[in-house]
Amino acid sequence: MTNLASFPGETKGRTLVIGATGFMGRFIAEASLDSDRPTYVLVRPGSIGPVKFKIIQALQDKGAVIVHGMINDREIMEKIMKENEIDIVISVVGGENILDQLPLVEAIKAVGTIKRFLPSEFGHDVDRANPVEPGLQMYMEKRKVRRAVEEGGVAYTYICCNSIASWPYYDNTHPSEVTPPLDHFQIYGDGTTKAYFVAGEDIGRFTMKVANDPRTLNKKVHFRPSCNYLNMNELASLWEMKIGKTLPRVTVSEEDLLAVAAANRIPESIVASFTHDIFIKGCQVDFSIDGRNEVELTELYPNETFNTIDECFDEFALQVK
Ligand SMILES: NC(=O)c1ccc[n+]([C@@H]2O[C@H](COP(=O)([O-])OP(=O)(O)OC[C@H]3O[C@@H](n4cnc5c(N)ncnc54)[C@H](OP(=O)(O)O)[C@@H]3O)[C@@H](O)[C@H]2O)c1
Repeated sequence: MTNLASFPGETKGRTLVIGATGFMGRFIAEASLDSDRPTYVLVRPGSIGPVKFKIIQALQDKGAVIVHGMINDREIMEKIMKENEIDIVISVVGGENILDQLPLVEAIKAVGTIKRFLPSEFGHDVDRANPVEPGLQMYMEKRKVRRAVEEGGVAYTYICCNSIASWPYYDNTHPSEVTPPLDHFQIYGDGTTKAYFVAGEDIGRFTMKVANDPRTLNKKVHFRPSCNYLNMNELASLWEMKIGKTLPRVTVSEEDLLAVAAANRIPESIVASFTHDIFIKGCQVDFSIDGRNEVELTELYPNETFNTIDECFDEFALQVK
């Protein structure tokens, strides 16, 4: 006997979001609910602190069905997906838990009816980018998950959304601390290497579109909105305009970033290695999207608009007033 939830007028695929209490996962779970998809949210069993409790409650209030389990428990995951007739699985587990997805891939294969799996990517094309350690370790793990998905014949899409719209601090401990500085800017190298910045809300919204789009089956989707293509110098000037004052600019050299990465302090050193890869090596922009198994987001949805970095900075300016 199962407790299959019913969703009146259900026409869209049932989506399971894993990692919805995390920084990136919350955007995905909210976007799934906003797009009127029956949305299941996996919560790890055990004690939940007040912050996560609130997040779960807010998702539940919007209609999410909470299921309990851990993705590294293959049997439980198989049961959850079968009993709830899940169509789409989106994993947004954090960097420390990337390999936990391997038993999940096994469970997806065993269920046999999952129409699309989006593993925890949400950054760069990990088969192309090659950051220094310790960031490389995470990419090697993400590559391992990709290979398990492909070799297992699982229907997939990889979201390569580039940077979340925020201030790219190289020594950040978590990307939720995102407001631009008020004392001085740290500019990486000469500050001219460009990157793409996408608002969390847009990462969520477009992930849901992509997950249900037949054109993105077994493809990597690169997010390259031209309105959000900036370098550090341009970001700094934009922020100066928003706060109405000029701030000193301090150079953080390639050697400085490599030294922080080499110190192997987790997570700061991981962030420094990605910062080096983005703003010194240009890993987001040093290739063209021309492979058979990849597509650029704005070509798929030419009429959709993005939140601009300018608008994001307006919001940050309100927060620091
Ligand atoms: N492009 C960017 O700028 C950017 C920025 C940040 C992150 N990312 C990427 O986004 C992804 C998510 O990172 P994040 O920083 O958002 O992660 P996070 O905040 O650490 O959240 C991780 C989530 O995964 C859940 N989780 C971990 N292991 C699990 C398991 N075995 N079973 C079930 N749930 C599990 C956690 O649950 P609990 O609540 O129980 O801990 C939490 O909800 C990563 O791939 C990361 O590289 C990209």
